[in-house]
Amino acid sequence: MKRVIAFFAAVMMLASCCGESSRIIKVNVPERPAGQEDVIALALPPIDTVRVGFIGLGMRGPGAVERFTYIPGAKIVALCDVEPERAESANEILRSHGLPDAALYSGSTEAYKGLCERDDINLVYIATDWKHHVPLALYAMQCGKHVAIEVPAATTLDEIWSLVNMAESKRLHCMMLENCCYDFFELSSLSMAQSGVFGEVIHGEGSYNHNLDPFWNEYWHSWRLDFNKENRGDVYPTHGLGPVAQAMNIHRGDRFTTLVSMDTDPFNGPKHIKARNIEGDFANGDVSCTLIRTHKGKTILIEHDVMTPRPYSRMYQLVGTDGYAGKYPVEQYCLRAEGAQNVDYQSLDGEKVYEGEELQALQAKYPNPILTPELEALAKKVGGHGGMDFIMDYRLVYCLRNGLPLDMDVYDMAEWCCLGELSRMSIAGGNAPVEVPDFTRGAWQKLSGFNYSL
Ligand SMILES: NC(=O)c1ccc[n+]([C@@H]2O[C@H](COP(=O)([O-])OP(=O)(O)OC[C@H]3O[C@@H](n4cnc5c(N)ncnc54)[C@H](O)[C@@H]3O)[C@@H](O)[C@H]2O)c1
Repeated sequence: MKRVIAFFAAVMMLASCCGESSRIIKVNVPERPAGQEDVIALALPPIDTVRVGFIGLGMRGPGAVERFTYIPGAKIVALCDVEPERAESANEILRSHGLPDAALYSGSTEAYKGLCERDDINLVYIATDWKHHVPLALYAMQCGKHVAIEVPAATTLDEIWSLVNMAESKRLHCMMLENCCYDFFELSSLSMAQSGVFGEVIHGEGSYNHNLDPFWNEYWHSWRLDFNKENRGDVYPTHGLGPVAQAMNIHRGDRFTTLVSMDTDPFNGPKHIKARNIEGDFANGDVSCTLIRTHKGKTILIEHDVMTPRPYSRMYQLVGTDGYAGKYPVEQYCLRAEGAQNVDYQSLDGEKVYEGEELQALQAKYPNPILTPELEALAKKVGGHGGMDFIMDYRLVYCLRNGLPLDMDVYDMAEWCCLGELSRMSIAGGNAPVEVPDFTRGAWQKLSGFNYSL
């Protein structure tokens, strides 16, 4: 009898210390303001000419200006950067293409307001440092403009909700410029996933593993090192998460429910600030890992490492019940071999690996509907990370010109960016599970599966 009581006592103790529901960190979902509706599948009247103003012309912005000179139906109207010479040299890009000069705005961090207030612009494209993304985007939407914001568009939950609310109340597009959704392998793999080649996709992985040593000194007023100094957690999650979330139909039938995050200590970060005579502690761990679980019982692993000399990787993996896609270090698909149920698993050949020409032949059977041969050829010519940046910009303009919902909406932005603050909360809570808010506020099942508008 004593033994039985001891057993039950042990079970009760285990249940109380491992009960997830008691440990989970709840996250508030603010009520949708009255008179406002979701903007799922937002379709607006076609815009004949997409007239764009660019804000932020440092390392990233001028490439976007260059790409837009190749996009049919796009017109570059205005250019803005705090630093006057950066705005002026972006006009050189237009001249080199035989295009008229754009109006310039510069000289202060408030100069962008003049650009947003113009009545001949319908899209504001933002490529500033992270702290300026949201105030600028809110002002642009307040002025009635669609916005496209570099990654990560927002870094806190408050910022995310302010963008969601502004996009909903103004019924405007607010897209995050997640270019990695448009790389060729990701486009093919998405198409294959949608055709059921991998069975049901039940797990995904993604990362931003990129040693930024050569870049830290190049950012305007060292904003990126400062942000990493001040913030723990995954501060740059969207390159890894975006393509996987699309393949898993997030807020198109499934949604993120919880996440757990863990980081290493900052080992290399402090050396960077010491070398620059910057005082204080360094918050961001060299490596951060976050695990997300979805409503349908699927998982995603996301990693962030900008501090160690490992090879560049966005990790990109889709793991399905019947197959696998993996991009790094070698592009591979892996499917069940013909007759695999009778296979001798000791010989490790229960699956067939596709690489090289075999991989290309497999991909050719599942073309991505947005990637016409003409677009692919132009993207490879214009470039931008091998062409994916161009495909992203082209699709943005194409959808606006045709009155179609954009590929990535304000809720994608919210779901992919929220890892920033939620991973910090999990780590601060001793790696506790954290609830992921439903940014659609109940509309995540309105659409069934991720689809491009064509
Ligand atoms: N998607 C990608 O592959 C990719 C690649 C690189 C950078 N990025 C993103 O692009 C953005 C810019 O990065 P970067 O490397 O060009 O940084 P950067 O420091 O080189 O450039 C930022 C520019 O913004 C300007 N700026 C800052 N505040 C401003 C304001 N209020 N008004 C006008 N101009 C302002 C600065 O003067 C500077 O020229 C970041 O969000 C970054 O994460 C994305």
